[in-house]
Amino acid sequence: MSLKGSIKVAGDKSITHRAIIFSSLSKGTTRIHEPLLGADCISTLEIFKQFGVKSELSKDCLIITSPGLESFCYDQSILDAGNSGTTARLLMGVLSNLPATLTLIGDESLSKRPMKRVTLPLSQMGANITLENDATLPATITGHQLTGISYELPVASAQVKSAIMLAGMLAQGVTTIHEPIPTRDHTEKMFEDFQIAYNKVNRMITVQGPQMPITPGEVFVPGDISSAAFFVVAALMVPGSDVMIENVGINETRSGIIDVIRAMNGKITLVNERYFGGEPVADLHIQYTKDLVATTIEGDMIPRLIDEIPILALLATRAKGITVIKDAEELKVKETNRIDVTVNQLKAIGAEIKSTDDGMIITGQPEGSFNQASVSSHKDHRIAMMLCVASLLIDEPLIIEDVESMEISYPDFLKHLNVLLGN
Ligand code: S3P
Repeated sequence: MSLKGSIKVAGDKSITHRAIIFSSLSKGTTRIHEPLLGADCISTLEIFKQFGVKSELSKDCLIITSPGLESFCYDQSILDAGNSGTTARLLMGVLSNLPATLTLIGDESLSKRPMKRVTLPLSQMGANITLENDATLPATITGHQLTGISYELPVASAQVKSAIMLAGMLAQGVTTIHEPIPTRDHTEKMFEDFQIAYNKVNRMITVQGPQMPITPGEVFVPGDISSAAFFVVAALMVPGSDVMIENVGINETRSGIIDVIRAMNGKITLVNERYFGGEPVADLHIQYTKDLVATTIEGDMIPRLIDEIPILALLATRAKGITVIKDAEELKVKETNRIDVTVNQLKAIGAEIKSTDDGMIITGQPEGSFNQASVSSHKDHRIAMMLCVASLLIDEPLIIEDVESMEISYPDFLKHLNVLLGN
């Protein structure tokens, strides 16, 4: 049962969130082409709809019409970010500058995730935010115009960086952000698309506020490399596979998985490299590779593939030697503790894997086979899809609890998997 043929994966989640945010803040109509309409991005959209932003769907295009940030209405004060850390964190940067008192809530998983990393710099800008136990959602925000600050990010987080960039865009004065390790730069690219002047020199971003985004009319969303990752790994591991994934974003800040696969000897080729909107894309050609080798994933590489670590851990179970993943303690504060959940699920099906304080160690068994077991996504979309790919290596069916969590980032995942499997 090999994977064959070609598909176009779901639109990029990070870029869709930002496209919805910037389109909603700018007055007029923006057409977002090929957006991701997974549950997380819908959470962002629903919040702006509460402020009076209108949206309609036409074929592969999300059309957003906004009265502009200055004409938002604030009739409803409870805003639900659902499962989405990107929604909660980026919007805190915006809400802190709006003339209203609003409460941001999230689901059980999001309500456990750390928010202080965002509220701390925002408070230095003058924001008035109260967190539950000074740490988590719900967050009650009484907005007013903030003042720029200079801030060095203590964690490599694009969500924190973006929250401060958005806050700085709307604030009075100059905001400077220094990021010690580069993280995804989609907010910077969106600044360019929506005509927000800023400077980026080395790892220092400066924005002079206040500035209002101006819609370019159209935004193009490439395929999500974090979603493509599941099919890439499936094709590398399942004998006889030969797959093409079209129009995948290969932004340098996101494409760590390609470098790692090459280091592991995996057969991946980038075809027809080009730009789609402001982002670089390519078609990915992947072929089954029987002589995969272990590698070490660490340091500056981690933010370039943070969301792909669960599926890369699965790939490492098939690579000869010992793969070490370190410097990845951020995984502990994702939708689940992804170190523990990945290790426990893969161990259950027979992988040789153990957790460490900041990652995991995997002993590859290129010839070994996995077994049926009781596994769960723990309501984490990326774990759900990783386990679906793992099931391709097991002869009997694998029953995955809470598999529907994949709706968060990839509602069509099973449909696309079946296309490649010829079902
Ligand atoms: C994201 C940044 C990353 C990533 C998340 C999306 C973004 O989180 O894990 O899925 O869109 O900015 P951190 O910024 O917390 O690392």
